[in-house]
Amino acid sequence: MSQKRALLIIGGGIAAYKSLELIRRLKERGIAVRVVMTQAAQQFVTPLAAGALVGERVFTDLFDQVQEFDVGHIRLARECELIIVAPATADLMAKAANGLANDLASAVLLATDKPVLMAPAMNPHMWAHAATRRNFARLQADGLRFVGPNEGEMAEKGERGLGRMAEPEEIRDAALALLVDGPLKGKRALITAGPTLESIDPVRFISNRSSGKQGYAIAAALADLGADVTLVSGPTGLPAPQGVTRVSVETAREMLIACEDALPADVAVCVAAVADWRPERTASAKLKKDKSGIPSISLTENPDILATLSKAKKKRPRLVIGFAAETDHVEEHARAKIAKKGCDWIVANDVSGDVMGGDENAVMLIAKNRTETWPRMAKGSVAKKLAEEIAKALEAKAPRK
Ligand code: C5P
Repeated sequence: MSQKRALLIIGGGIAAYKSLELIRRLKERGIAVRVVMTQAAQQFVTPLAAGALVGERVFTDLFDQVQEFDVGHIRLARECELIIVAPATADLMAKAANGLANDLASAVLLATDKPVLMAPAMNPHMWAHAATRRNFARLQADGLRFVGPNEGEMAEKGERGLGRMAEPEEIRDAALALLVDGPLKGKRALITAGPTLESIDPVRFISNRSSGKQGYAIAAALADLGADVTLVSGPTGLPAPQGVTRVSVETAREMLIACEDALPADVAVCVAAVADWRPERTASAKLKKDKSGIPSISLTENPDILATLSKAKKKRPRLVIGFAAETDHVEEHARAKIAKKGCDWIVANDVSGDVMGGDENAVMLIAKNRTETWPRMAKGSVAKKLAEEIAKALEAKAPRK
């Protein structure tokens, strides 16, 4: 996915401190953030703090020769896919509604041809004032979008009412809705990937050779189609794909908890190579070689994440997909797995070759009433094709079985 860029204009209000949190929430979703601060905003948070979070300097001046020569207000206004104004003060709203452009923030708002999302924050009397009502109506008519304000406690002692800035997560979600497009927009996907690691003692563990590549590629492909993706990953050396929320875990039990926390989801794709067994006990100190000969490790069964999600009474994803690594009778074994685990589809691959850790995969997509054999292709292409099949299935009223 090409990285989406948002320009965040921070206005001068006490809610400005929440905009620092907003920067983090946007970056977590793979959005590149550039920041403009008004003079008033700098009374509440510093450009240094915002700059540290975005990883570049913050823009503050319309008439600063260096800033204007380097980037300039016209480029700031255009080199993004969305402008977010948070907090949008009564003053900034008034300026934007009337086309004033006497500082960097207002000049950018006048110069832009990109969508603008405002998160108003002000005292309830200011929000209710006839002038603000007029400006709000004008801005809505001009096509600007709004999130909040919310009802609640004000910074001023004892005051309550409409005027609190929306929470960073709400602003992020409103921004994502404007930034993201594709057939899976608004759909939530849960992916498991990588191996799990089950400790024997503080230094030794049981694990497997899963690289996580196929699961990561599926997470990326679903995000490309606009899905809100949570990737629950065991230890891998891979970077989190752009625009995907990764939750890192080690053990099967941690993976199951993280998956359940990520529900509800429209689709779950279990690609992780979960260790079937774990040591019954994890020694708290390193097992010593000289103690009493060779230790024996007794194993116990790990939870089956795919089966648990498939059979969930509450919050079962509409479409649950498992993977099956087989060395013989691929289709037959995959069909048996659908029945046993209760999932909807199985993506089966023949692992008699070099699939584990390799960059290519030859798979069959097996559903209750269909079998498709896909040609050998790059794991990224398998992921893309699977994501398209998922989008088709979720578009249909009832998922194709
Ligand atoms: O039973 P088997 O390991 O062959 O099944 C593979 C499928 O089940 C994969 O989708 C894998 O992610 C999932 N699985 C799981 N939890 C387990 C074992 C397997 O989610 N404990």
